[in-house]
Amino acid sequence: MTLKNEIDSLTTEFNNSIKSISHNDIDSLNKIKHIYLSRKGKLSELFIKLGEADQFERPKLGKKINDLKKSFSESIDEIEKSFNSNPKESSDENIDLTLPGDFISYGSKHPITKTIDEIKSIFSQIGFSVAYGPEIDDDYHNFEALNIPKHHPARDMQDTFYINSNDVLRTHTSNTQIHLMENSDPPIRVICPGRVFRNEAISIRSYCLFHQIEGLYINKNVSFSEMKGTIEYFCKKFFGENVVARFRPSFFPFTEPSAEVDISCMMCNGKGCSMCKKTGWLEILGCGLVDPEVLKNVGYDPEIWSGYAWGMGIERMAILKYGIDDIRLFFNGNVKFLRQF
Ligand code: DAH
Repeated sequence: MTLKNEIDSLTTEFNNSIKSISHNDIDSLNKIKHIYLSRKGKLSELFIKLGEADQFERPKLGKKINDLKKSFSESIDEIEKSFNSNPKESSDENIDLTLPGDFISYGSKHPITKTIDEIKSIFSQIGFSVAYGPEIDDDYHNFEALNIPKHHPARDMQDTFYINSNDVLRTHTSNTQIHLMENSDPPIRVICPGRVFRNEAISIRSYCLFHQIEGLYINKNVSFSEMKGTIEYFCKKFFGENVVARFRPSFFPFTEPSAEVDISCMMCNGKGCSMCKKTGWLEILGCGLVDPEVLKNVGYDPEIWSGYAWGMGIERMAILKYGIDDIRLFFNGNVKFLRQF
């Protein structure tokens, strides 16, 4: 073997033995130091062999061995330093390594947050962005502008918490539609998640606070069938490809025509069970074409612009998807429940 080859193979050998040292194994490190760097070590042997090398090659090889010596001792110093800099793992005999470690408890996303995230991602794939509206709003944005005048019986649909004679805790995310349209020009394609509040008796089915996602699309010549397509796409993405959505005529003051959407019950595949109250269908949202009165209220010309909107309850979505039987579980912070998500 030429001296040059010997230098190369010694470098590889050194690197391998350095790599095999475990943390704080100072004895092995000293052994390696001795093997390579001591007076009778492997590097000294190379210096001796240098005397026999070709005289023209000698200066170059000599420099190489010197560099090697420097780099070997630097590597060893560095490792030695890393041993000392971590006092916890130093060979302190007072530490009982058999003691159990600290328990780290991991958090997880709340099922409502998970559901909102999933719905956002499904709609973002078809171009919907996300916007947020105020939770405390005035009567105008929560009701009047949505074509629900004072003393109109439609107000009875939503038991409202009043802050004062004019301001309410919003009863639905539909108020965000109005704020968005007031502040931007069409086209609009957006979903609006958020908390809503209703003065309802608390039971396994209803709570005074829950979450909704509002959807709003405004453009020229928007049709009912576009809305159907969007909602059907969502139902299949969220509940599964086999789910069937049906549109039932309904009434909302801010849409005309209006519909409610049911999906085929995934518990019994439409045969009828306790979840779907033996009907085979589960109601999931309300929707419709935005009423021209609403467009006028925000200063849009209903002759030019049209659109559709929908509103759905997030707890309801999560209850159906995860088979949860009590809405109050979402709000009482029980870790046994929350850990399952
Ligand atoms: N705001 C309605 C509610 O809370 C839900 C709703 C129905 C929203 C139809 C809409 C819609 O945007 O078009 O019950």
